[in-house]
Amino acid sequence: IFNNIEELPGDALFAIKQRLAEDSRTFKVDLGIGAYRDESGKPWVLPAVRKAESLIHADPSFNHEYLGIAGLPALTSGAAKVILGEDSPALAEKRVVSSQSLSGTGALHIAAKFINKFLPGRPVYVSDPTWANHVSIFESQGVKTVTYPYWDAATKTLNLDGFIKAIESSPRGSIFLLHACAHNPTGLDPSEAQWEEILDACVKNDIIPLFDSAYQGFASGSLAKDAFAVRLGVKLFAETAPIFICQSFAKNVGMYGERCGCIHLIVPKQDSSVNVTAITKALGSQISKITRSEVSNPPAYGAKIVAKVLNDAELTQQWHQDMITMSQRITKMRRTLSDKLVALKTPGNWDHIVNQCGMFSYTGLTKEMVQRLEKEHGVYMVASGRASIAGLNDQNVDHVANAINEVVRH
Ligand code: LMR
Repeated sequence: IFNNIEELPGDALFAIKQRLAEDSRTFKVDLGIGAYRDESGKPWVLPAVRKAESLIHADPSFNHEYLGIAGLPALTSGAAKVILGEDSPALAEKRVVSSQSLSGTGALHIAAKFINKFLPGRPVYVSDPTWANHVSIFESQGVKTVTYPYWDAATKTLNLDGFIKAIESSPRGSIFLLHACAHNPTGLDPSEAQWEEILDACVKNDIIPLFDSAYQGFASGSLAKDAFAVRLGVKLFAETAPIFICQSFAKNVGMYGERCGCIHLIVPKQDSSVNVTAITKALGSQISKITRSEVSNPPAYGAKIVAKVLNDAELTQQWHQDMITMSQRITKMRRTLSDKLVALKTPGNWDHIVNQCGMFSYTGLTKEMVQRLEKEHGVYMVASGRASIAGLNDQNVDHVANAINEVVRH
């Protein structure tokens, strides 16, 4: 009965990892998957994480028991403060439902199931382009996706007019997926003034925002600055609509394989006849039902590490420093690559590499150029021209600049 099942092509991003592993050349450069690499191109265990792990293992009460279905309370409460701010009115007013998830993907998956059940028939609007998995996650749960204009390829800037028009012309109550910061794949974020326009338009048009926060701390090194859009959204929507936040600790705590994240659902303030406590309890119970049927309860190990980092003042301070270390090294490599391309007089303008933020640069290189980079120069990036700048370092940046120069010219 399975004889006619079609074989699908491998996942484009993970296929890069595979091809890299099979490439026997000694000099290869991985600018594919979005994972931070240190100055020698190696995965980096954050010093805050090393310390947290040693404290956890030294604790005689450490064990591998199940967590509750909603996850580790010390994680979910700490995570809510990270994204919303310690002094968030939404937290003080107890309008936030938080539940642990399998990183950002798991949070999006819960959101998709929840939308399918409680907001049926509403599509999720995603930016053009967006992280490829966004579309798969929602469509796998029967939630349609529609794109809204975002990247203007000709100018390599934000198509703000197109974005706002899409908000204005979408049906009332539509769901818009917004990248909280460090947009994947373009590395292009709206400015604070542009966020104000975007979110004002969302309020006026009764949009339900769904923030994907996968890179908080990576764009600027500051958690507060990178949460600007989310916190503004929570403020502007305080009286009107709910907000979904899907939060990942894969990148900013370097917990890639531990799958640690949270979903937060924020309900608006209501008049005194409505019992907000009862509403948040009901929403929490529905999210728990989804989690229970799919993973029973979320994984404990990464959650314990992140909770330790978020709840121990010394570790939190170290973590903030670690995010500065990562974001500054990436910023430096952006500048180095762009300077080298300018020095080589590579045709085109390379300012966007410096102006973009977070892990990625949408380089503007064509699919054919990307193929040649891989085949002829051992430089791997995504076919769309997205390069993970975290894969650059002082030893490989010359090679990458020369390779780009070569494929752009010939
Ligand atoms: C990426 O876009 O490279 C990361 O978010 C990794 C992933 O899971 O796709």
